[in-house]
Amino acid sequence: MLEKLTKWRKSFPIQETKKIDEVNIPKHIAIIMDGNGRWAKQKGLPRIAGHREGMKVINKVVRRANELGVEILTLYAFSTENWKRPKTEVDYLMKLPERFLSVELPKLMEENVKVRLMGSIENLPEHTRNAVNKAVKETANNSGLILNFALNYGSRFEIVEAMKRISEQIEQGTLTANEVDENLLTAHLMTSELRDPDLLIRTSGEIRLSNFMLWQIAYSEFWFTDVLWPDFSELHLDEAITVYQKRARRYGGV
Ligand code: FPP
Repeated sequence: MLEKLTKWRKSFPIQETKKIDEVNIPKHIAIIMDGNGRWAKQKGLPRIAGHREGMKVINKVVRRANELGVEILTLYAFSTENWKRPKTEVDYLMKLPERFLSVELPKLMEENVKVRLMGSIENLPEHTRNAVNKAVKETANNSGLILNFALNYGSRFEIVEAMKRISEQIEQGTLTANEVDENLLTAHLMTSELRDPDLLIRTSGEIRLSNFMLWQIAYSEFWFTDVLWPDFSELHLDEAITVYQKRARRYGGV
């Protein structure tokens, strides 16, 4: 038994668990869920098997985040650049929200989770749009964790769109260039009513941002792990939070 437990423990490179300070929980955690394809390749499976397994991790992470009192969990599920992937993979990824929500929506309701979206939702296939919009509508009155799916999301596009809308107001004479400030731009982003992420997690060993929330993560703490997303668990989330809690956030001060 002990041998089995040790073996299981070794498969998760956890440094520390159960040392979470409950009064210093990051209120907004954003995750770049990466490594599904490599996970599948390592197992001799098609890439879509990695995405299917990756989808299964989401409910574990949502439950743990909710339990810890995280207020917002943003998940990068599909980027504006992901359309470049083979059509079969894109088609599969577009089916995942429906699959996920058909099983998980009742549980999300039970857990008081509020589903929210950011990205160009109007450009998603109708079946995907319907599934996510239904989840947003049904969970609209929930007051627990906000589960914010970034779907067909790209940060540069988001900033350009915000600037277009601000420019239109200047053209119409309802705004002056002098009135454009950080708060105004923030208010025109897809996250306008959300606080900025306190903690950004990226899995799979890639150390880059891939056009994700570039404006919003200006002062976020970053935590990168080699763990591939399908292997990510509640324990890794706990580890990321304990590391976050050891960081001193100075926001440019001393
Ligand atoms: C990156 O891994 C992952 C994605 C592009 C998709 C992430 C989507 C999920 C985890 C499931 C989404 C589910 C819902 C409910 C929206 P990758 O394919 O780039 O992996 P690789 O870098 O190893 O190839």
